[in-house]
Amino acid sequence: MDEAEGKSKQPSSESHRVATSDDIEVSTYLEIAKEISGEQPVASEEAISPAEREAIIVIDFGSQYSMLIARRVRECQVYCELLPYDTPWEKIASLNPRGFILSGGPASVYEPGAPLAPAYIYESHLPILGICYGMQVLTKQLGGTVAPGTKREYGHAILYLSDVDSPLFTDLPASSPVWMSHGDRIEEMPPGFTALAYTENSPVAVMGNGEGIFGLQFHPEVAHTPEGKTILKNFVYRICGRQGNWTIGSFIEESISTIRKQVGKGKVISALSGGVDSAVVATLIHRAIGDQLTCIYVNHGLLRREEVERTFNVFRLNLGMNINHVDASERFLSRLKGVVDPEMKRKVIGEEFIRVFEKEAKKIGKVEFLAQGTLYPDVIESASSGSRASAKIKTHHNVGGLPAKMRLNLLEPLRNLFKDEVRQVGLALGLPEEMVWRQPFPGPGLAIRIIGEVTKKKLEILRAADWIVMNEIKKAKLYRQLWQSFAILTDVKSVGVMGDYRTYGYLIAIRAVNSDDAMTADWSRLPYDLLGRISNRIVNEVPEVNRVVYDITSKPPSTIEWE
Ligand code: XMP
Repeated sequence: MDEAEGKSKQPSSESHRVATSDDIEVSTYLEIAKEISGEQPVASEEAISPAEREAIIVIDFGSQYSMLIARRVRECQVYCELLPYDTPWEKIASLNPRGFILSGGPASVYEPGAPLAPAYIYESHLPILGICYGMQVLTKQLGGTVAPGTKREYGHAILYLSDVDSPLFTDLPASSPVWMSHGDRIEEMPPGFTALAYTENSPVAVMGNGEGIFGLQFHPEVAHTPEGKTILKNFVYRICGRQGNWTIGSFIEESISTIRKQVGKGKVISALSGGVDSAVVATLIHRAIGDQLTCIYVNHGLLRREEVERTFNVFRLNLGMNINHVDASERFLSRLKGVVDPEMKRKVIGEEFIRVFEKEAKKIGKVEFLAQGTLYPDVIESASSGSRASAKIKTHHNVGGLPAKMRLNLLEPLRNLFKDEVRQVGLALGLPEEMVWRQPFPGPGLAIRIIGEVTKKKLEILRAADWIVMNEIKKAKLYRQLWQSFAILTDVKSVGVMGDYRTYGYLIAIRAVNSDDAMTADWSRLPYDLLGRISNRIVNEVPEVNRVVYDITSKPPSTIEWE
């Protein structure tokens, strides 16, 4: 049927798309280039050690909200890490744990092989907060009984406090909405526990043992539990005794001193892509070690209008960094001649990037460290899948014949941060707002937004149209709200009329999406007036274009990019 409808199907494993930023993609090319040139610097697998920082540890049982718990705790200015439930004690101990939160999860505690909390959690005598499945784990392991619920409780419920004096409930009203999502229920609490709050369907919605162990049947981390953050804050401040001194300022100070220690007199090399992560990494490292850092910025000629100048000005002129700027646009363009297949475009661009980097990296001589903008979600994902994030991207991009094992060592100062924290660090380091809030932009750039062959002329047309889209979206103050917004130059030409003349011009498509992580996305309901202004300006200001359409498909079944 698909064939009849003109769609061609490919197994998704063959796709080389990545749901990641150009930052990681570009720095991965640099990593590969150094590997090819035979450079293998000193080993330091571990990234920045957390020094004297103390942490709340979220033990992950696989809930979709686990990462959110860690973010909420950090919003209380308390450092928090998310680790799989089978993490060895040595790793946990190195983080100076001051309390545990057991996350929710999809399993049932009485299923054979259901994940449980490691014994060290109870033996540590540190405070514990079990959330949903985490509460059921506590109950089972501490001698209570969990039973399958007769009906699943899912959605809004009202929480009524029965022990208003519990320190977990400080500043909480006597009743408040909470978000429930569970099938199993606590039939019998473990010895020493009492019910501290209830809902209509859950007589034990909150339980505690008076010795720092609590269970919550609902999810305090989600927005549907408006008082949830107060509960988490009470747990980390009042039960675990934290003080809220983990701030962006303290992170920057701590990172600078760790980078100095780690790097010593060594040299660091970093790839700039114009994206926020690589910009923040470079600025942070530069603050720590100055001219020991060299950045490589490759202009592949597939960037948006004024992008190169802006990035270059910020880093070279404002921040005074060492930048090797390579204008390789002609080289990329000639390699892309005649290439129409999207994956082939990616392959060609990837290979060419590596060639350019290889040449540049050689010029710098011996380098001990490669900086990368790896973020915490990449680390969590790679810990759970057992593979390094960069390795995964390499296979996605299939740059051909690369050794599976990379022995290069990375400097990844952002590996414990979430994206919004990276933005705050960027702002605190003095990066311009425009750079810090930049929407994601794919590594292969405009090449995958020009359907069919990429030519200089088509790049000019697309840049002009894209400039108008960006300009209007920013004027409408929607830029930050949208995940991505951009123009696509299709290979369709259509007939139009302008004045007394018939025209035969290009069709431009506009894409604007809302998304949290690029895995799924919804098309943005942009105001008609705004779409009208964009369309008008494009057909008036870009002579080669006589028609504009708006893409109203979501992902899935479409993707964000057209190629
Ligand atoms: P799709 O089009 O797959 O895109 O929905 C998801 C996210 O990934 C970006 N993207 C890429 N980023 N190299 C990149 O660095 C690529 O080849 C690539 N392809 C897509 C896309 O912009 C979106 O943010």
